[in-house]
Amino acid sequence: MKSSKKKLLIGFGIAFVALLSGCSFNQAPDQDKVSSPPPEQKGKNALPIPPLLEDKNPADDVAEFYLKAQKSTKSFLDGVETESYGYNGDYLGPVIQVQKGEQVKVHIKNELGDEETTVHWHGLEVPGSADGGPHNAIKPNEIFSPSFTITQPAATLWYHPHPLHKTGEQVYKGLAGLFYIEDEVSNRLNIPKSYGENDFPIVIQDRNLREDGQLSYDLNMMSLMHGMHGDTPLVNGVFDPYLEVPQGKVRLRLLNGSNARIFQLKLSKDNHFWQIASDGGFLEKPVKMDQIVLGPAERAEMIVDFSQYKQGDKVQLFDQDVRLMNFIIGTPEKEKFEIPDQLTTIEKINPPSGTVTRTFAFQGMGNSVNINGKQMDMNRIDEEVQLNATEIWEITNIDNGMMGGMGMPHPFHPHGVQFQILERNGKEPPENEQGWKDTILLMPGDKVKTIATFKKDGVFMYHCHILEHEDAGMMGQFEVN
Ligand code: C2O
Ligand code: CU
Ligand code: CU
Repeated sequence: MKSSKKKLLIGFGIAFVALLSGCSFNQAPDQDKVSSPPPEQKGKNALPIPPLLEDKNPADDVAEFYLKAQKSTKSFLDGVETESYGYNGDYLGPVIQVQKGEQVKVHIKNELGDEETTVHWHGLEVPGSADGGPHNAIKPNEIFSPSFTITQPAATLWYHPHPLHKTGEQVYKGLAGLFYIEDEVSNRLNIPKSYGENDFPIVIQDRNLREDGQLSYDLNMMSLMHGMHGDTPLVNGVFDPYLEVPQGKVRLRLLNGSNARIFQLKLSKDNHFWQIASDGGFLEKPVKMDQIVLGPAERAEMIVDFSQYKQGDKVQLFDQDVRLMNFIIGTPEKEKFEIPDQLTTIEKINPPSGTVTRTFAFQGMGNSVNINGKQMDMNRIDEEVQLNATEIWEITNIDNGMMGGMGMPHPFHPHGVQFQILERNGKEPPENEQGWKDTILLMPGDKVKTIATFKKDGVFMYHCHILEHEDAGMMGQFEVN
């Protein structure tokens, strides 16, 4: 038993290295310090559904929330308390749900003890002053209360800390949560939308638990180079959980919340899913898929149809060969849903003549990762963008592998804006990348052409979303005004 589990976990390690670099597994992370959940813990725990954060403001078009970044402990391994961080809880955070048009205020208290933190709204189009980047540091025991108006369509976004050089560690210990925007489209569509009943948040991460059961965030050459990977997959903070789902259509809001791992997700039994939304909202039409690749920070909303199964049947979600979680088919769904032919309409941004084009080259390795030859400097603005300008940004992952061919993937993410993809490696992007995006995965050698209109002012970051690369300096700043 033990050895087959061990094999499974080692497979997990090898598989990602192969996916990452296409070369052999002599770079697999240090396996022996890892103490993963024992086999008897597999499939034993229910998937936790985080609470929806309560809106404390009675006014109709105003929402007011309270978040606390705190230290805690959580039991990832039976009988072991692991030190962790969480928002209003022991690990991860509540789901914040807002409506388009709402005025939102969030009071964030830093109770982490002696370190600074920030809360960044990943994918949200808000001014730089409310964005929660490294300039918005909250000192220990202080409160930061950004407010902003929701001006973008329905989407599954997320929030996480962004302190300079410490993002990786704080996210790793548990600071992250989902942020839902709803609007007239999401409210009208006949798709599953009952939170925790047929519409589920699914945050997928990988972690390393040390021999003593503690989360280890030790940067070594390996983790600095490839980003922090772990051999224990977690969904909503739990190892190999199960979820009882209605016998019918179910909506999964997937977030790759890992620091560095790329997930290649598929269902067992040759099941497929329909992707209905990408990072920034609904696709125009559902895209039927057998599997989806999600880079760090990317999201996808999926509809899965479980109506062909009997009560008690199991369907599993895998990352390549590694089981992440189990769906157990329950009682028939109460409402009937469709896979709509049309979800929304997305106006294609056409490059106006004279459009400014900027290029961003991702390169370097380890401590020297950089964009356009520069590393993050808080006192330097790298790009000046005019308010309301439409620009083309060309991002290239320069394959800088040693001995030919071994490069690093880099997921690119700009703050405060949703973009469209014009081209991926010279071609039209795949169907599920034709909607709004805020993060895009570039494998070694990839070149992507994006277009966006910059509607919010202030100072924003753009960076690689492998958090160890970001912390090492693979980040720059643009100012919109
Ligand atoms: Cu997910 Cu700079 O952020
Ligand atoms: Cu972001
Ligand atoms: Cu990177």
